[in-house]
Amino acid sequence: MSLQWKRSRSARLLAVGVAAVTAIGLAGCSSSDDSSSDTITLYSGQHEDFAKALAAGFEEETGIKVEVRAGKDAEMVGQIVEEGDRSKADVVLTEEPGPLGTLDSKGLLAPVDKGTLTVPDQRFVPSTGNWLPVAGRARVLFYNPTKIAEDKLPTSILDLTKPEWKGRFAYAPSGAFKSTTTYLINTIGEQRTLEWLKGIKANGVNEQKNGKVRDSVEAGQHEFGLSNHYYWYILAKEKGGADKLTSRVHYMRNDDAGSLVLASGAAVLKSSDKQKQGAEFLKWMASPEGGQNVVATDTPQFPMSAGVASAYGLPTLDSLNFPKFDQSSLQNVDQANDLLKQAGIV
Ligand SMILES: [Fe+2]
Repeated sequence: MSLQWKRSRSARLLAVGVAAVTAIGLAGCSSSDDSSSDTITLYSGQHEDFAKALAAGFEEETGIKVEVRAGKDAEMVGQIVEEGDRSKADVVLTEEPGPLGTLDSKGLLAPVDKGTLTVPDQRFVPSTGNWLPVAGRARVLFYNPTKIAEDKLPTSILDLTKPEWKGRFAYAPSGAFKSTTTYLINTIGEQRTLEWLKGIKANGVNEQKNGKVRDSVEAGQHEFGLSNHYYWYILAKEKGGADKLTSRVHYMRNDDAGSLVLASGAAVLKSSDKQKQGAEFLKWMASPEGGQNVVATDTPQFPMSAGVASAYGLPTLDSLNFPKFDQSSLQNVDQANDLLKQAGIV
């Protein structure tokens, strides 16, 4: 168990006090200024509020400050690649597994401590062992029961290219849609994936953003839409409960690409000179009392540590059926982007 997370506040304050006294005692006779070791820089592609809640929780527990730079996955990852060895990022957090896979395949990530990797649900731990799954995001259908009954929904997203579904559903070319595309390239091949994307473009309505897919289905503009589960739970909370919404979430609960659960993950950059603090951040992220508790209370994404229940009334991951795959295998984001362009979706 991670006892240090349970350190009492007074013990931490005492420790800070001792450190301060020591620093005063050493003032003038030390050449190395170690004060910056108490700050790490996090490049985050996750929802900004969530990243900030994690930073605050970690700082509260360890005294290590986290400076958050927030943006989109592609932006953050692009910046890290561009900055190379001189990157200011010590730690990176992304929404999707693919962008982390990109950094991993370029050799930019430091291996995660084995002990930390044993904590999360092993189904989501990438085979490379170079990043930590921190939250799960399920691909789902949002549907409007005044327009379509749940048992009439498609059982495979591959069927959506058939004439019977024309004009009846919404989608958005989000990061998770790209992950789905990468997954399809890996499983059914590039050519069939391109055909599928062209069919989606022809049959579906591109609402550009997952939130817009949700809102348009809620408003009855489409029978259903492809999205990430948590967008619906965010709206339900805003409106004061699931019973205030017309739309519903449909988990396909099968082996179809429409049931993927994608891991959002974190990693320490190999170029960082704060390896110890970075590793501590990951350890805290995996811990049920630390980062996983923030996941469970601050966002309707799925906690990745067994036994941590979400405060948002999510089903447990064990109650869902979803395809098994290596979360490291979705690194080819560029290829997915290329197909989306060829299909005219982006
Ligand atoms: Fe999102």
